[in-house]
Amino acid sequence: METKVVVIDHKSMDEEILQEAGNIIKNGGLVAFPTETVYGLGGDGLKEDVAEKIYRAKGRPSDNPLILHIAELSALEVLAVDIPELAYRLAEKFWPGPLTMILKKSSIVPYAVTGGLDTVAIRMPSDEIAREIIKESGTYIAAPSANSSSRPSPTKAEHVIEDLFGKIDMIVDGGDSDIGLESSIIDLSGEVPMILRPGFITKEDFEEIVAKVEYDKAVLAKKMQESIVAKAPGMKYRHYAPKGQITIVEGKEAKVANTINAFVKEAEQKGVRVAVLCAEETKENYQCKHIYSLGSLKQEKEMGAHLFATLRSFDKDGMEVIYSESFEQTKLAKAIMNRLRKAAGYQTITCE
Ligand code: TXA
Ligand code: MG
Repeated sequence: METKVVVIDHKSMDEEILQEAGNIIKNGGLVAFPTETVYGLGGDGLKEDVAEKIYRAKGRPSDNPLILHIAELSALEVLAVDIPELAYRLAEKFWPGPLTMILKKSSIVPYAVTGGLDTVAIRMPSDEIAREIIKESGTYIAAPSANSSSRPSPTKAEHVIEDLFGKIDMIVDGGDSDIGLESSIIDLSGEVPMILRPGFITKEDFEEIVAKVEYDKAVLAKKMQESIVAKAPGMKYRHYAPKGQITIVEGKEAKVANTINAFVKEAEQKGVRVAVLCAEETKENYQCKHIYSLGSLKQEKEMGAHLFATLRSFDKDGMEVIYSESFEQTKLAKAIMNRLRKAAGYQTITCE
């Protein structure tokens, strides 16, 4: 399939491109487009065969449901039923923005989109390009992250090109994603609101709106535990993984540095391509040929925004083994570590 790649500027959006993208989706095609979190792979969210096309393009198991993207609040009542009052309060505070809500689905949402579940994931993105494409499409857009299944989510159009070129109709290049981590997911379909995926909107942010909110057990998992059945089906798959094996090393700064340096020395002596992933502040602690800084601990939004691109660069640079610090100090730590632990397949060393 021929994939058209077009560049669009957020500041002076080309109407024609937005219309073309919207029309492709209206006609059952697939378009990757920017959002404030990560790039999405969009198709008509009300069509069963389009959902199947999305799964195929991503190589994703079809029991892992898709998020429906909306541009207006009124869409909520079209796509969901039994909507709790809390959903409106969260929408008021966090929409448009990096929040996905899980609600009971209405009958117009095909089961192919929800992976057979009776609930539906809904998000109103703040990115202007995304919102205009939704409006132009005249429908609700099902959009998973626009990566091949198991690769890191895309935060640049070139990541989408790497994974999906030739498999979809169009890629809209709107530059780097602002947040770079997928939306926070909150499940409002049960008794207690549950965070299924941590993101830029944190538990503390939710607590300003609702007294009781909990993390799903799988979010906090530091180990792969089969006893923990993830509520968001996507969380049970190995994710975001570069080809090299990542090991997270936790503990006090000096011990972590000593431990990582010892592993690096051993690996380098064996001729293994080994890398260290750390913060700007601790870079000097390491003796390694390949040091990747996520950025300053004081600029945590940037750290989050750099994570997926950094994971991809390990592959590009042919890194076979990666030792990473644990980034627990920041407000976004839950979101960042949740992705990093999955990328590491939960391989962690704790320094006593
Ligand atoms: O930021 C984002 O949310 C991006 C952009 C493109 O909007 N999209 C995204 O979609 O991350 P995706 O498909 O890569 O991740 C969606 C997650 C999966 O883990 C899926 O299992 C979960 O949402 N999910 C979707 N519907 C669900 C439902 N009804 N119940 C529980 N989890 C659900
Ligand atoms: Mg994804």
